[in-house]
Amino acid sequence: MIKKLTILILLAISVGAMAQQMPADKEARMEKFITELMSKMTLEEKIGQLHQISGGDVVSGELSSDGNKTAQQIRSGGVGSMLNAKGVEKVYALQKVAVEQSRLKIPLLFGMDVIHGYETAFPVPLAMASTWNMKQIETMARTAAVEASADGVCWTFSPMVDITRDPRWGRIVEGAGEDPFLGGAVAKAMVKGYQGEPGFATNTQILACVKHFALYGAPDAGRDYSTVDMSRLRMFNDYLYPYQAAVEAGVATVMSSFNEVDNVPATANKWLLDDLLRKQWGFKGLVLTDYASINDLPRHGIGDPVSTTIRALEAGTDIDMEAYAYHYMLPEAVRNGRVPMALIDKACRRVLEAKYQLGLFENPYKYCDVTRPAKEFFTKENRAKSRQAAGESFVLLKNDSITLNPAVPAKPLLPLAKQGTIAVIGPHGNNRPMMLGPWFYPHDIQRAATVVEGLKEAVGSKAKVVFARGCQPFESEEYAQRVYFGKEFEKDNRPDTEILAEALNVAKNADVIIATLGESTEMSGESSSRSILDLPKPQQDLLKALAETGKPIVLVLFTGRPLTINWEKANLPAILNVWFPGTEAAYAIADVLFGDVNPSGKLTATWPQSVGQIPIYYNGKNTGKPMDKWFQKFRSGYLDVSNEPLYPFGYGLSYTNFEYSDVILNDSVMSPKGQLTASVTVKNTGKRDGYEVVQLYICDKAASIIRPLKELKGFQKVFIKAGQSVKVDFQITSDLLKFYNSDLEYVCEPGDFDAMIGCNSVELKSAKFTLVE
Ligand code: NOJ
Repeated sequence: MIKKLTILILLAISVGAMAQQMPADKEARMEKFITELMSKMTLEEKIGQLHQISGGDVVSGELSSDGNKTAQQIRSGGVGSMLNAKGVEKVYALQKVAVEQSRLKIPLLFGMDVIHGYETAFPVPLAMASTWNMKQIETMARTAAVEASADGVCWTFSPMVDITRDPRWGRIVEGAGEDPFLGGAVAKAMVKGYQGEPGFATNTQILACVKHFALYGAPDAGRDYSTVDMSRLRMFNDYLYPYQAAVEAGVATVMSSFNEVDNVPATANKWLLDDLLRKQWGFKGLVLTDYASINDLPRHGIGDPVSTTIRALEAGTDIDMEAYAYHYMLPEAVRNGRVPMALIDKACRRVLEAKYQLGLFENPYKYCDVTRPAKEFFTKENRAKSRQAAGESFVLLKNDSITLNPAVPAKPLLPLAKQGTIAVIGPHGNNRPMMLGPWFYPHDIQRAATVVEGLKEAVGSKAKVVFARGCQPFESEEYAQRVYFGKEFEKDNRPDTEILAEALNVAKNADVIIATLGESTEMSGESSSRSILDLPKPQQDLLKALAETGKPIVLVLFTGRPLTINWEKANLPAILNVWFPGTEAAYAIADVLFGDVNPSGKLTATWPQSVGQIPIYYNGKNTGKPMDKWFQKFRSGYLDVSNEPLYPFGYGLSYTNFEYSDVILNDSVMSPKGQLTASVTVKNTGKRDGYEVVQLYICDKAASIIRPLKELKGFQKVFIKAGQSVKVDFQITSDLLKFYNSDLEYVCEPGDFDAMIGCNSVELKSAKFTLVE
């Protein structure tokens, strides 16, 4: 039944603006200061503020800048900011050129991709999201900001909040997964962690940058940088909220995406950058391009270099990252009247405002305290935080009860006892950089302990830990070269047969095998799309050979994305997915394998059975021909695979068990201004204390447009002692029932709803309520 009345609730248009607002007197002082400064600036100096160049210490794109000319460019006032200049001494030296040798002494901004830690690596962002612990995520961002700012960085190109429903896309590792509600919460936590309290009062608070605006996570066929094409309704209902949430949290900067939005590249998309971001959402900060993306505009086929560069500026792009397009083309375009000076002024002002807000005009060396790294990098405290986050991010995918001795009752394979001989087999077992994951550029890439070292430390003299590599991580040398694009990686030059024979020999004498396998760090991340999501073939062969030994196997799986591990799920008793856990990986893995930490991570992206099911996501819509049970002819499904995922969104096991009561609603009707409480009692029926992520989903049963079967609308992570119960309440307000209708109005509509609560997106208990007019 279509609801009769549409209740229009106005957009919270000015929330973002409010979050960023400075006290009026400070703002007035800033405006005066900048107006005076700009009155002294030449056209070239103004355009210089819009020009960002690379320091070249980290490679995160196709480099255009010439390192030798950097100082000269800064001296001439031709550069406003830099990215990828690593090291506080270097930053200090570059800043010195800007403020002591350039005519107007305008300080530079120094940006970097600080994605999951700076010197202390935390788990990759997809793993951090799997903690469902916003405090933990904020702590990660805060810790990263402290370390990065100690090294001269005052601007991180994070958080990346792109929703994706496609694990072929390598950058799924950088975001929070497939859900906009969770993604929005993560975005807010990260902005808060990086930027801290409003005002940037301390030298540990840095500018955050929400990216990639917008829809970068929806490329056709999961191929990075590919075409994106979706309806406005899908955009607004499923993809845009996390960016908006970051704006609401006061994010200082926004990075546009490489892809197109409605057939116009985001870099030059006025509707996106001006109408939506600035006018509708009230964003007041600065917008920069992604890496050299103005140079991509002619390749998109929307015009020649000059006209497309102008179009980027007109759309609202303030800073050109590394394309040199503004630098080379805008001066002439202003002189010949194609670009009004007012447009340059607007963009220049925004860059200067960011510098002012950080306090760089007062103290350009605010982030250049060369004594800080020694005190603040990789500290005991930071490492402890990372270890805790890592343990919390692991997702226990399987833990069957087994026994090798018919006289002994079967019990879950994990946690392991610290006894006997434990064989760690697989290339990830003694590889330090492999622990860190993509998007991490520390001064020392070899800092993490190996899994073998971590387990040895944990068991002490109680057990023996042995290691064998077992196989190569990749199919071929060519594949490895593509993955590492010239970077160094560890190789084993022995013949494959010898590597395998050694492993089988080690396995033969072991009581349990820990198979440390999965993706290598650079297999996910930018420009790392995959069309096959199995474990690499040599790893599959190794696992099969190990399984034939009859020894119990725990697969400790490293990955930056969901994988199609069907054989592994069917044939191995235990699978612990550890993503890329960071510098403390080894210790966190030991914590969980031996039961000192009870796993509590839950998936935030659906794992498919096959690549053919992609895109696959939990919040799909009703169709006219749903398949109730595989297989039904003339129903929506496949001949060769069911519609079920391998593992659903929200899924993850614990070493204990939780039992959910029915859902109790305190009322069965609710008015748009009222609220309901939905409650469940969750009982820990096992023998260990544990955390459980209790999830609330809502389904709008009938609306003016087709609505998803369920949407996440709340979650709480609760600690429940063994044998005890906890009552969990969710407040349901009309805010949680809103969606964008056909006219793109944000509304809730009266009618029936289901409130569903459970331990993942599939195992849910449900209660019905009605929203009345
Ligand atoms: C390209 C990536 O898309 C973006 O995420 C990153 O911030 C820039 N390069 C700078 O490294």
